[in-house]
Amino acid sequence: MYTTLLSLFSFVVLLSYFIVKPTWEYLRDPKGLRRYPCINPLAGVTNLGFMWEAYTGIRSKKLYEMHKTHPVIRIGPNSLSYGSVNAIKDIYGHNSRCTKDVFYEALSGSHFHLADVVDKGEHARKRKMMSSAYALKNLEGWEYKVADKTGRFIKACDAHCTTPLSEGRVTPDPQDLKFDYRAYSNFFTLDAIADIGLSERLGFLDAGSDKVVGEKMDGTIYEVESYRAGLHATAKAQALIVWATEWYDFNSKYVSKIFPSFRKMWKLNEGWNDLVYHRATKRLARYRAGEKLDDFFQALMEDKNGNPNNLEWGEVIAEVSIMLNAGSDTTALAMNNVMVWLLKNPECLSRLREEVDAVLDPEEIVAPYDKVKHLPYLRACLDESLRVTPSTTFGLPRRTPPEGSKILDEWIEGNTTVSISAYVAHRDPVIFPEPERFNPDRWLGEKGKELQPYFISFSTGSRGCIGRNISYLEQTVLLASVVHRYGLALPHPGWEQDRWETTNLMAGPLPMKVWRRDLSVAKP
Ligand code: HEM
Repeated sequence: MYTTLLSLFSFVVLLSYFIVKPTWEYLRDPKGLRRYPCINPLAGVTNLGFMWEAYTGIRSKKLYEMHKTHPVIRIGPNSLSYGSVNAIKDIYGHNSRCTKDVFYEALSGSHFHLADVVDKGEHARKRKMMSSAYALKNLEGWEYKVADKTGRFIKACDAHCTTPLSEGRVTPDPQDLKFDYRAYSNFFTLDAIADIGLSERLGFLDAGSDKVVGEKMDGTIYEVESYRAGLHATAKAQALIVWATEWYDFNSKYVSKIFPSFRKMWKLNEGWNDLVYHRATKRLARYRAGEKLDDFFQALMEDKNGNPNNLEWGEVIAEVSIMLNAGSDTTALAMNNVMVWLLKNPECLSRLREEVDAVLDPEEIVAPYDKVKHLPYLRACLDESLRVTPSTTFGLPRRTPPEGSKILDEWIEGNTTVSISAYVAHRDPVIFPEPERFNPDRWLGEKGKELQPYFISFSTGSRGCIGRNISYLEQTVLLASVVHRYGLALPHPGWEQDRWETTNLMAGPLPMKVWRRDLSVAKP
């Protein structure tokens, strides 16, 4: 009898909490959000609606399709997505009163890092501390590290070269698809950021693998199977469940108990945490031994006058973690994407080669940054690729201030989540005509400069990317060096890369045929 009553009571409580209350809130509509169409029938009532979108497809693509007819779409009970570039300054601009959303707090660890700290004052403190390390004046210091990684990339690529594709052929023999450009560009950025940030040589490019040592909090050292698998699994698992922010901790703990695929992803996530921890402890040991190294870790420990920053160890680890994460995957995706676009648009590749060949000597293997940094077409190719396939596609969630805020000329009540996906913004046909076409020319000259306010691959405003300069340096040197030295081919002209969306637009393997160009008769 008691059991029956208890079950009935539990049923009523659960029903009220999960169905009656949200439905009542939806109908009550205190913020007036019912005036906006929903991404799916569930989205106005529960965050399960957006979680379903995350599980079943590429959210940003669906938003893009819907935004063609609706400027604002409700993607959660308290969350709006915008489709017009005119919303950028209202949400992300320097004068916007919006802050980062609770989304970031849900994902944070014991300590905030530069990218997930919400409090504006705390963010300003961190940003000031890191800005001298990330400043443009350090470019010279990073350049030789990037040149070193490019040399190693080229060595690996040389080892995978095949004979040139015969004249007129566009489809290589499948056994010639020996070089996974996606994997190697990721090895490149991982090796580069470990060197720039921590003065550590990971050696992934040399080994052609991303096996790495990790360390548990109790000091146990072990080999983590794959750096990338850890990083990518973490992102995938988070992107499936984070949308119900207040349930994130509960879900991350219990969803794993129900679904084996989640268990696997969280296991890989442990590997990721352990490898970050090991990088930090190793670097700390060098710092304590008195080594003065010119890297980001040094900037975390001391200001430029050598005064200690006295950060808690948890904060140092958090900063190392975001540096290794944000500093690698996004740039690797950008390198992958521009290569795919160029191979699918051979006329653009030819024009780029002409530009690069004109400044590099035939025997030059690693493009000196000085020679290629101002090449307009090269930069236009990078930006056009970042426009049409931004590495970070998800709408970066911001929260309106408690008193509310005007967005796209409409008043939005306080504490509402608002966002605009770069994937959507960059397809606004008024600013970017023929948005699906890879057209680097749109970035050239004065007209190109006018597009900059609408280019949000690195976000904008006070929370814009701090690593942008490093990323352009890496992308520019690698792309110039590769197109100068190699001929490259996709598996076939209509080939499409496997894609899925986390916070980034992720990409599966990119198997390519590569061969050395004959630079004595260099023609594009
Ligand atoms: C193509 C390459 C890159 C892209 C597309 C990119 C994109 C972004 C975006 C969209 C944000 C805003 C995130 C948000 O609001 O949630 C961001 C912030 C950030 N990025 Fe990048 N990023 C790139 C490269 C890098 C690199 C190389 C580093 C480090 C070396 C880096 C470190 C950071 C950090 C620390 C933040 C947080 C900044 C803050 O809130 O003050 N990023 N990036």
